[in-house]
Amino acid sequence: MHAALALIGEDLKNVELQFKEDLQSDVPLIRKVGEYVLSSGGKRIRPALLLLAAKLCGYQGDRHVPLASVIEFIHTATLLHDDVVDNANLRRGIASANTLWGNEASVLVGDFLFSKSFSLMVANGDLKVLQVLSNATTIIAEGEVLQLVCTSDLDLNEERYIEVVKCKTAILLSAACQAGAVLGKAFPEREDALRDFGMGLGIAFQLMDDTLDYVASEEQFGKSIGHDLEEGKITLPLIHTLKQCTPDERSKIADVIEKDLLEKEDFQTVFDLVHKYGGIDYTIAAAKEYIVRSKVPLEIFEDSQEKAALIDLADYVVTRER
Ligand code: IPE
Ligand code: IPE
Ligand code: MG
Ligand code: MG
Repeated sequence: MHAALALIGEDLKNVELQFKEDLQSDVPLIRKVGEYVLSSGGKRIRPALLLLAAKLCGYQGDRHVPLASVIEFIHTATLLHDDVVDNANLRRGIASANTLWGNEASVLVGDFLFSKSFSLMVANGDLKVLQVLSNATTIIAEGEVLQLVCTSDLDLNEERYIEVVKCKTAILLSAACQAGAVLGKAFPEREDALRDFGMGLGIAFQLMDDTLDYVASEEQFGKSIGHDLEEGKITLPLIHTLKQCTPDERSKIADVIEKDLLEKEDFQTVFDLVHKYGGIDYTIAAAKEYIVRSKVPLEIFEDSQEKAALIDLADYVVTRER
């Protein structure tokens, strides 16, 4: 990420200042919860993508920082809601907002951030950007519902899983890249190239998140390990395992998925099977393949520092530990 940070470091600092401004509200709880999540150390991948894409397309105005702030607002809103839905206690290494303030406050502050994002986009004054980002938020909502419907479904196949991943996660990274291109008034084929790059990168990003949910250290990752399993989320490491394992092993996995509270041995049973059938290696290989393919559309751009930084960011996605 170093190349990216060197190029857009100043802008990213201004994005942090912009958050403070955009969080203004007469309701103290909104500022409190908002500041808590926004200052808890997110990686800022989506703002970085937007800023780099805009720079790559030659954008020189002053609307990029406010828009980068908006995309992180949208991301933050989805996290507030997602942690309620997923019963998550830990986010970025500290207690999640729902743990501290309860589900009600998390949902409502998430709503505030969503609504505020739309006001800010209108103020930003580009209908095309508004279209790209509002389309993304609609698809994210669909993705989260789709995932809910797939909970505990042992027959979920890789294709449908990837569809969920595109909707709940990749679309926002894709929209970040596309919005940057729109800001830079890029030709349609360049806008499409950046959109497609973001989609591939976004899929790989979630595949790695799902891998880390099995194998990361909680301290590095900042989220609870094994939480997807606990919540009955069938992700690619397990989908691959379910496809390979014996009927007997499948029913062992089914027993664990059915349970509400998992014991250490339950995790171990499933972890062992996932390792036995190479579910982790399979998922990492798939993520790497998405990254390789995501870079192809960028070939229409001549070489530049911005392009190199985007490629760097893509490579970072498959090596990250948090
Ligand atoms: C977390 O996204 C949600 C997923 C899509 C996996 P990030 O890993 O980008 O979260 P932060 O903002 O850096 O904490
Ligand atoms: C992220 O999926 C989906 C959205 C934020 C919309 P996860 O549920 O895997 O993300 P984490 O693991 O909670 O960050
Ligand atoms: Mg979650
Ligand atoms: Mg996750």
